[in-house]
Amino acid sequence: MTDCQEANSPMELYEKLTAQGDKVRALKTDKAEKAEVVAAVQMLLKLKVDYKQTTGQDYKAGCPPSETAAAVTDNGPAADGDGGEDNVDPWNVSTTNAKGVDYDKLIVRFGSSKVEKELVDRIEKVSGQKPHRFLRRGIFFSHRDMHQVLDAYEKHKSFYLYTGRGPSSEAMHVGHLIPFIFTKWLQDVFDIPLVIQLTDDEKYLWKDLSLEDCHRFAVENAKDIIACGFDVNKTFIFSDLDYMGASPDFYRNVVKIQKHVTFNQVKGIFGFTDSDCIGKISFPAIQAAPSFSSSFPQIFGGRKDIQCLIPCAIDQDPYFRMTRDVAPRIGYPKPALLHSTFFPALQGAQTKMSASDANTSIFLTDTPKQIKSKINKHAFSGGKDTVEEHRKYGGNADVDVSFMYLTFFLEDDEQLEKIRQDYTSGALLTGELKKILTETLQPMIAQHQERRKQVTDETVKQFMTPRPLNFNL
Ligand code: TRP
Repeated sequence: MTDCQEANSPMELYEKLTAQGDKVRALKTDKAEKAEVVAAVQMLLKLKVDYKQTTGQDYKAGCPPSETAAAVTDNGPAADGDGGEDNVDPWNVSTTNAKGVDYDKLIVRFGSSKVEKELVDRIEKVSGQKPHRFLRRGIFFSHRDMHQVLDAYEKHKSFYLYTGRGPSSEAMHVGHLIPFIFTKWLQDVFDIPLVIQLTDDEKYLWKDLSLEDCHRFAVENAKDIIACGFDVNKTFIFSDLDYMGASPDFYRNVVKIQKHVTFNQVKGIFGFTDSDCIGKISFPAIQAAPSFSSSFPQIFGGRKDIQCLIPCAIDQDPYFRMTRDVAPRIGYPKPALLHSTFFPALQGAQTKMSASDANTSIFLTDTPKQIKSKINKHAFSGGKDTVEEHRKYGGNADVDVSFMYLTFFLEDDEQLEKIRQDYTSGALLTGELKKILTETLQPMIAQHQERRKQVTDETVKQFMTPRPLNFNL
């Protein structure tokens, strides 16, 4: 495995914690804005939890971690050697920067490629469609092998899409829709098949949930996914708990992958330790398997050479670095990837949203009233404290969560740019900005709820039945 690692060593964590403690004290002494202090304290607590998980010890200022703990979990420095302020892996996302994670740095660290304007233009040319706003605005900001996918497509060699979701609860929030909204667009403009993996097995292994609950969440989440508008003739949605046992070809691929990845490699990539259960250690092979067309003989008729493109949030990249490493060794093409940034929590871009805290996010089940009050109460503002100051100095759109949400959901580029300018100049007040966001999200969520209501058990069954799909490859 040549890719870099993003886990923090105990010493790095210790140093971060010490620095964060200093920062909190300084903010309190300087009587900084409450939200800023709260964010800094939250960060401190999170680091303490990470520290305990990594070292098995409680953090004590002035007492660096002991050698033995460091020897077990040190995964080496990040490739850029600066230790970084961001922590991104499939289970944790955090940063100390209010603008959010430094995505350019992440590209360097993960060794992926930036989605340049040239690539967006090419997607437009090849698909014949205006690029989705997520591409125009750098929300899908990083990729692997997209040019190769487009080269092949131009020569009439098609590809298929693979994405997924870990069903950890019944409640999905707007951030969860990002990969699905984008995948639906890709399916429409390229007219290609799509497989969606629901990793109910993963959630059982990682969380304190029963198998039955995880499976039930998978089916419930499938309804929200279907409500995004996928074409039933081109889409196969599967629960691992069901499909693994029903598909010999899928399981054969899982075993092939398992044979070609060592414990050392997954330790390096995912930071597993000796006390993680063996289910976790072998799970990455299950998330890798859908990247290979031979895992779906009912769709691809046993062909093993069809290229896969995976749209996903950047935190899933470790799985697919591993997959790409294994692919040539078992005779399959490497999957291509398109990575998105994270959808920020209402409280700020330091962290992604959490399904377990209702106030960090807008849920797909929220009423218009709840949406309004959550935005007004919790959306972190880049505005000034008083109207006078705001008019005089203007707001900071870069850290303003309402503005960030509009970049995800407001379709009109000119309107968005005007909002940015007016907010920055002070012409637009925070309350007015929040109102625009509220009025953008309310109809969007109401329409989603309406479409979800139309999704019957019968529809879910159709999507989740292994069957041939309709397409020309
Ligand atoms: N592990 C992902 C999660 O917890 C779910 C997932 C499985 C996924 N396969 C994927 C996400 C492919 C993106 C692409 O949410």
